[in-house]
Amino acid sequence: MKVLFRADEIAERVKVLGREISSCYRGGDLMVIGILKGSFMFLSDLVRQIDAPVQLDFVRLSSYMNAREPQGTVKITMDIENDIKGRDVLIVDDILDTGQSMLAFRRHLEDKSAQSVRVCTLLDKTYRRQAPIQPDFYGFRIDDGFVVGYGLDYAEQYRALPDIYVLDT
Ligand code: IMP
Ligand code: MG
Repeated sequence: MKVLFRADEIAERVKVLGREISSCYRGGDLMVIGILKGSFMFLSDLVRQIDAPVQLDFVRLSSYMNAREPQGTVKITMDIENDIKGRDVLIVDDILDTGQSMLAFRRHLEDKSAQSVRVCTLLDKTYRRQAPIQPDFYGFRIDDGFVVGYGLDYAEQYRALPDIYVLDT
């Protein structure tokens, strides 16, 4: 495994992201929705860098991996608990890959009549994108292979590592 981003580089970037997000939602009352489990570490660092009142909620998504479901369908295995009607919502995830699950989930939140829905992802694999969605805020663009650490897993391993690594293939 090769280190891609060290904990201190991540922390620096998260600080800057926190400032960007704070100025975007100045004075507002923000609902941050974390996608479990991958976002847990990024989200907990990020919200501490946001200088605005923040409320938190969480979801668990699982994508249909077999071809029997329509492409881009996402299954919400645990939905948010708060009413987001008229609210400014920021979805936080670890990595935006094909974008299929994020696109479907953003639509789901828009259907709940949120005032605004934006996306913040720590890592952006732009070259892998299939769905028409881009992050409103991102930490790093990457084009390397499969990454783990800082919340990201491979078969539930490596989530707790403080740095981000590229797995050898
Ligand atoms: P998408 O619908 O293809 O964008 O799926 C994104 C999800 O796939 C992320 O939230 C991660 O859970 C997972 N994922 C995609 N690429 C990686 C990776 O390199 N490492 C770990 N998880 C990944
Ligand atoms: Mg995920």
